[in-house]
Amino acid sequence: MSQTIDAPRTPAYPNRSKGTNWEKWGWIYMRASGVLLVVLIFGHLFVNLMVGDGVHAIDFAFVGGKWSDPFWQIWDGLMLWLALIHGGNGMRTLVNDYARSRGLRGTLKIAILIAVVVLIVLGTLVIFTFNPCPAGAPADLLPSICKGI
Ligand code: HEM
Repeated sequence: MSQTIDAPRTPAYPNRSKGTNWEKWGWIYMRASGVLLVVLIFGHLFVNLMVGDGVHAIDFAFVGGKWSDPFWQIWDGLMLWLALIHGGNGMRTLVNDYARSRGLRGTLKIAILIAVVVLIVLGTLVIFTFNPCPAGAPADLLPSICKGI
């Protein structure tokens, strides 16, 4: 079976004359977020796996310590938002390219949108409300770093 593929510069919507070109901004977002993600992801890996005792130092207290510092909260929050929107938009591209029926494309894209929104909301809540030593919790359930607080 042979199929003709449009020339690369063929407009997706030939009759569209004005309004925001979201596909163009999506294309730019993938590149801009990609550059930022290289810094954020490799910085994250370097600090967590190589600095000091490296991977051996990672435990509940390590994570609790990082998320008590606004610098790491913003770092991890940016990584979460940029990567999820980047991954979601990238998956949207794959769905547009490969899902054959309009209904399947719509369903898959709504599923991607729900997954991205749920993960961003839950992840942001965890990063910014995390409290390793919640008041009133039974002492035997608290980590050792909470002693004396
Ligand atoms: C090291 C950081 C990253 C860089 C530099 C990067 C860069 C890119 C670029 C430039 C594209 C566009 C490719 C194209 O339009 O042909 C892309 C696509 C994509 N990225 Fe990333 N990305 C990174 C991290 C991630 C992460 C963490 C995820 C998952 C959450 C992800 C998921 C995707 C997906 C699903 C696509 C679509 C693939 C396609 O169109 O074939 N990327 N990435």
